[in-house]
Amino acid sequence: MPKSLAPVIDADRVTLYIGDTVGILPLLEPSSVSSVVTDPPYGLGFCGQDWDCATGFRESLPDVDTSRMSDPEVFETWCRAWASGLLQVLKPGGYLAAFGGTRTWHRMARGVESAGFQIRDQIAWLYSTGMPKSMDLSRAADQHLGVERPDRVVEVSNMEGVMGRTSRVLIKGQPVTNQARKLEGWGTGLRPGFEPILIARKPPKGSLISNVLEYGTGGLNIDRSRFGKGRWPVNVAFDNEQAAALNDTAGLDGDGLPVSTKFPVFRYDRKAPQVERPTAFGVAHTTVKPLGLIRWLITMLTPVGGVVLEPFAGSGTTVEAALLELFQIVAIEKNLTFEPLLRSRIDRWLNNTSAT
Ligand SMILES: C[S@@+](CC[C@H](N)C(=O)[O-])C[C@H]1O[C@@H](n2cnc3c(N)ncnc32)[C@H](O)[C@@H]1O
Repeated sequence: MPKSLAPVIDADRVTLYIGDTVGILPLLEPSSVSSVVTDPPYGLGFCGQDWDCATGFRESLPDVDTSRMSDPEVFETWCRAWASGLLQVLKPGGYLAAFGGTRTWHRMARGVESAGFQIRDQIAWLYSTGMPKSMDLSRAADQHLGVERPDRVVEVSNMEGVMGRTSRVLIKGQPVTNQARKLEGWGTGLRPGFEPILIARKPPKGSLISNVLEYGTGGLNIDRSRFGKGRWPVNVAFDNEQAAALNDTAGLDGDGLPVSTKFPVFRYDRKAPQVERPTAFGVAHTTVKPLGLIRWLITMLTPVGGVVLEPFAGSGTTVEAALLELFQIVAIEKNLTFEPLLRSRIDRWLNNTSAT
């Protein structure tokens, strides 16, 4: 753990640290931030990235004996470690919004709760462009029995950036063995259609209202996070296609409006739309979140003039969103490779600000 720390950016409204969040958080000033909006690793080994695997989590916990823990247990212990750090840095009553993966979200929620947070809600973010990750059991049976399919065609590409080598099945080929024929159409995974966003709160000091009056934290900014024609913020968000599908099946509500107008709609593009994704020196980030969704979360959870903390900054979506919404932002990112992306987001904001 570093004993002291120096930010790589220390500007008027933005502070950026490069290093491990678990080590850095205890060195930040206690009760100094108003909200945390973050997209931590989901513990799914995303695209073979170290930052999303037990190896990376163990590295963050040099003082914890993880040798007898399963990978999900290591993930939970690691979530508890960063959540404990956040608890110290947040003002009493301060909110945390953290994205999670459907397979591992329960571990993150347990880690956050056992660190001392109150679990307040969960936002379901529904989208339609997810790709299924599923084993083709019929093909697996052929392979298991030592048979290759002569008519199978796979395209392999070596993508630029951090994704590395990827492959795409163009023709899956006909099953060869009897066992494989019986397993035609069987798989192991559903197409992802939602991501949970955990909403938790540091316990307020005293009554909630005295906490709000003293620290400014503890409440939700309902009016700033209304959507459509002034609707109350809701714990389900859609992408455009989901909204259109709902309208097709459910039609109009009692006021003659499409049913989807009851829910906020954010563009979803699996990754954020291309214009929002920075690339610098050939580096891109693989899990960029849409700016509109992060802006909505930040304005809902942060008191006016407050400080937002993003302990897993990635390409800096939360950094840009906080700046656009006129908040201060403190960000931490472990991977030096992403620093140019973060700097390019900050430059984009600075250029836009100076242009107006
Ligand atoms: C899911 S990505 C965040 C992507 C971000 N929401 C965006 O839109 O670009 C998680 C990030 O956390 C970083 N990370 C992983 N472990 C970390 C740690 N212990 N400390 C700080 N950052 C870490 C990874 O390098 C990765 O960039």
